[in-house]
Amino acid sequence: MTKGPLVELKKICKRFDGIEALKDVSLTVERGTVHGLVGENGAGKSTLGKIIAGVHRPDSGQLIVDNQAVSFATPRDALAHGIVMISQEVSLVPKRTVLENVFLGIESTKYGLVDKSALASRYEELTGRAGIYIHPDTTLDHLRIADQKKVEVLRAVARNARLGVMDEPTAALSSEEAAALYSLINSLTAIGTTVVYVSHFLEEVLQLADKVTVLRNGNLIKTSPVIEETPESLVKNMLGGFVSLGFPEKNYSRPDAPVVLQVQHLCQQGDFEDISFEIREGEIVGLAGLAGSGRSEICRAIFGAEKIAGGTMVLRGKAIQVKSPRAAVEKGIALLPESRKLAGLVMNFSTSNNITLPHLSKISLGPLIKLAEEKDLTQSILTQLDVRPPDPMAKVSSLSGGNQQKTLFAKWLFKKPLVFIADEPTAGVDVGAKRAIYQLIHKLAGEGLAVLLVSSDIEEVLGLSHKVLAIRNGRIVMEFDRDEITEDKVMNAIFATDKEGDLKCN
Ligand SMILES: Nc1ncnc2c1ncn2[C@@H]1O[C@H](COP(=O)(O)OP(=O)(O)OP(=O)(O)O)[C@@H](O)[C@H]1O
Ligand SMILES: [Mg+2]
Repeated sequence: MTKGPLVELKKICKRFDGIEALKDVSLTVERGTVHGLVGENGAGKSTLGKIIAGVHRPDSGQLIVDNQAVSFATPRDALAHGIVMISQEVSLVPKRTVLENVFLGIESTKYGLVDKSALASRYEELTGRAGIYIHPDTTLDHLRIADQKKVEVLRAVARNARLGVMDEPTAALSSEEAAALYSLINSLTAIGTTVVYVSHFLEEVLQLADKVTVLRNGNLIKTSPVIEETPESLVKNMLGGFVSLGFPEKNYSRPDAPVVLQVQHLCQQGDFEDISFEIREGEIVGLAGLAGSGRSEICRAIFGAEKIAGGTMVLRGKAIQVKSPRAAVEKGIALLPESRKLAGLVMNFSTSNNITLPHLSKISLGPLIKLAEEKDLTQSILTQLDVRPPDPMAKVSSLSGGNQQKTLFAKWLFKKPLVFIADEPTAGVDVGAKRAIYQLIHKLAGEGLAVLLVSSDIEEVLGLSHKVLAIRNGRIVMEFDRDEITEDKVMNAIFATDKEGDLKCN
């Protein structure tokens, strides 16, 4: 295996409507290594990755591959050089099967027709090699986000990529899925594949990468071997200052605070069973469980986005039926969904239109929308949440991933709900924004909202919640209050392997 530079960037600049996403960035990616890329939301990480992968063209500067200047007009040009991108937002074809998505454009053919049996055996070989198993015939839109990510990884491996740009591949993965991805990356680099790895999980970058580059506001601050860095040193360079990585102090609600939401014996065949709990005013209840344990399904059911087979819900003392998300919003239940692209935001709408979409009655006079008021109100909430740029007219598709996440928050805070369900509230946001979101969740609870929190980041659940419900195989297996909430206890509860029967609904 020959070492040396595979990709070099020389004084790359990229602007988007006046925003300098990258300024004079020069960088060398060595063959067979993992090159980490870190920085705040909007720092330019995805833009840099997209330039390497032919998604964007630089305005000036040079891209050099194998010591030769190249100019990629499309991702296909990059692919011709063995470069693929696993993007931050899943970019697969939703109505096609896993198999079709993986081999799209590189199908095996026989007499000009797609050779299905050849594809099937290629798929088997591929999944074996990658250690990822997903049924080839499932259509993409039936898969969880984490599984869609895995399909993207398979797609990259199937293309025999020499260089894969991975943009926050683990943002939606559980810890064991992430571990599987790390070992895949290690086995790829062992055979000479190169990886550019973008992530907000600094520990992860430090473990996985050989070198790490810090970007801030489109500027390259520093590239160094990971052994010279720590999470703190990276954060310092990312922010140009110091920020604490901890959680805000918990303010427990009074034990006699009124119950806002009561969920009783909720069940859905195959997903969850006998789910009962209550959330008081000011209380943050965390659902801890592995991906696929039913966490997200429970949230979606409470929000009316998923049918339930049985059980009741009581909101502020009144029995309610929530048949649709619209009904949920009207009753004061808001859900921050796990996938912002698919469920949360309309990408080609402005931030303002996205934020006010569920609340049109609040800013309308009869059939008319009060535009000036809409703009002012959204402007103030964007500023409050530090969305960059805080421009109500900016299209959501033009925002960086983390700023999209903050916009989604804005959407649900525009009109204050009674119950706020946050499913992966900090997926893909940087440390500074994470901290802001933690404080925001605390503030909301402090104002009397009942908060239901789901996160793959177990520390986040432990660090924020007043009460933790451990979910395993669709059931609440244990409940932890206040001081009982320790990582050991919660992990043991969600990982325990004792045998259980199938989920029933009575
Ligand atoms: N297609 C686009 N149109 C307009 N502006 C864009 C576009 N893509 C990115 N930008 C802007 O360029 C800057 C860098 O964005 P980029 O997506 O590269 O950030 P990032 O480091 O990946 O952030 P995150 O961690 O939030 O994903 C941001 O100010 C963003 O708003
Ligand atoms: Mg990004």
